[in-house]
Order: sequence, then structure tokens, then C-alpha cells
Amino acid sequence: MPDIQTSPKNRERRPVARFSILHSPFSILRILVHIGALIPLALIIVYAFTGHLTANPIQEATFRTGKTALTLLLLSLLCTPLNTLFGLKQVLPLRRTLGLYAFFYICIHLFIFAVVDYGLDWELIKQTIVEKRYVLVGFSAFLLLLPLALTSTKGWMRRLGKRWKQLHRLVYLAAVLVIIHFVWLVKADIREPLLYGAILGGLLLLRVPSVRRALTLLRYRFTRRRPAADAVLPARPSATE
Ligand code: HEM
Repeated sequence: MPDIQTSPKNRERRPVARFSILHSPFSILRILVHIGALIPLALIIVYAFTGHLTANPIQEATFRTGKTALTLLLLSLLCTPLNTLFGLKQVLPLRRTLGLYAFFYICIHLFIFAVVDYGLDWELIKQTIVEKRYVLVGFSAFLLLLPLALTSTKGWMRRLGKRWKQLHRLVYLAAVLVIIHFVWLVKADIREPLLYGAILGGLLLLRVPSVRRALTLLRYRFTRRRPAADAVLPARPSATE
């Protein structure tokens, strides 16, 4: 097989492939995402060690990890519409990073619940999952997201082919369950979970082919730039979706 890097025919293209700022693992956007995603964890650790994590630090850490996980999950779902509507292709590689960070926070959330709060008392944990409906729904969301996190690698993407995309659509169902989890656990003021729910509703609406088509054509009218065929005709699945 000819070496793509040294073949004279490909020599011209080499710098583009090597130094593409959009796809490099060290792109500025990517670095910002890593920093942004790790800040909430750093704050929890610093506040915990300095005694600033409120009077109920376990509950506060549970809240903070839960809310960060949900925010990151919604941000990962926002990447595809940003590309469809505004042609921001550079955000597409961030979907996986944001999704995996969301799962990372969910694992910490679960760890705080099961290990720190319930001291790995399996009987009590099982009883709580069965008795408290918001815990059952949260746990179901976790179980749905687990195979998605495990199959998020390029190898699994290749192995599963078309089924990979079908499997990863489960992320929307998991997100709906998380919103239910949030609505059910708050005792009085449900404005915050409803706000997150409205954002998810908007993102789901943008997945509807006719809505997507209409918005893409609108974008074309404003920018006068021809939209990609897959954006106008979502029936034909695109590789970037
Ligand atoms: C793995 C199973 C899960 C368990 C056992 C669990 C458990 C809990 C518990 C005990 C609380 C605090 C309730 C309270 O003290 O009033 C909570 C809050 C929360 N959880 Fe979960 N959860 C789970 C999954 C998830 C997932 C998958 C997400 C998001 C992706 C999530 C997001 C949240 C949010 C947003 C809150 C509320 C934060 C706030 O009020 O500020 N949880 N969860």
C-alpha cells in the first residue's frame, strides 16, 4: 500500500490532514470543552475540602453532579442542530466528548448515591430504587446510557454499522427519563426541571425532518449558501449525524 504521507501525489494534501484545527485532538474548541467540563468537578472537590459545600455536602454534590451531567448531555445533543442550522461542522467531533463527560458525571452521581450516601448497603439501595420513583427513572436512564458510552468508540461504530446510529438514538429517550427524574425529585418549584425539559423539547423538535428541512432552507435564504443535500433531505442519513 502506498504511503499517503510520502507519495508525491499526496504531498500537497499532507499539511491539511495533519494540521486541521477542526479535527485535531488539540483544537482550541476541544481544549475549551475539556476545561469547561472539568471545572464543576474541580469546584466540588475544592468546596468539599474547604468546607464550603453547604451544610449537606452529600446532597449538594449529588445535585451538582446531576445538573452538570444533564447540561453536558443537552450540549452534546445541541451539536447536530448547530451544524444543520448554522453549518458549524467543527462542533460535530465534540458530541462524543460532551456525551462521555456527561456519562462521567453520571457515574460520579451514582457513586455518591450508592457509596457515599448509602454506604453500599445493597438491600437499602434496592429498596430505594423500587420505592422512590425518581430514583427508578434515574437508574433506568443510567442503564440506557451505559451501552451508548461503551460503544462510543470508532471500533464499535464500525462493528455495528447502521445499528450504531439506531442504538445511539436511545440518548433522546434517556434524556427524557432524566427530565422526569428531575421533575419527580423536586418537591415544590418545578420551574428549573421544566426549563431543562423545554430545552430538550426544542432539541427533539429540531430532529423532526420537516422542521429541519424548513430551517435549513431558511438558513439558505439568509446566507445564500447552498445547503448540504443531507440537510435538506434528512430522509437520506448523513455521515455526520
Ligand atoms: C444512576 C441512577 C441515579 C440515581 C440513583 C440518582 C439519584 C439522585 C438523587 C438521590 C438525587 C437528589 C435528590 C434529593 O436529594 O432531593 C438526584 C438529583 C438529580 N439527578 Fe440523579 N440519579 C440518577 C441518575 C441521574 C442521571 C442519569 C442524571 C442526568 C443525566 C441525573 C440528574 C439529576 C439531576 C439534574 C438532579 C437534581 C439536581 C438539583 O436539584 O439541583 N440523575 N439524583
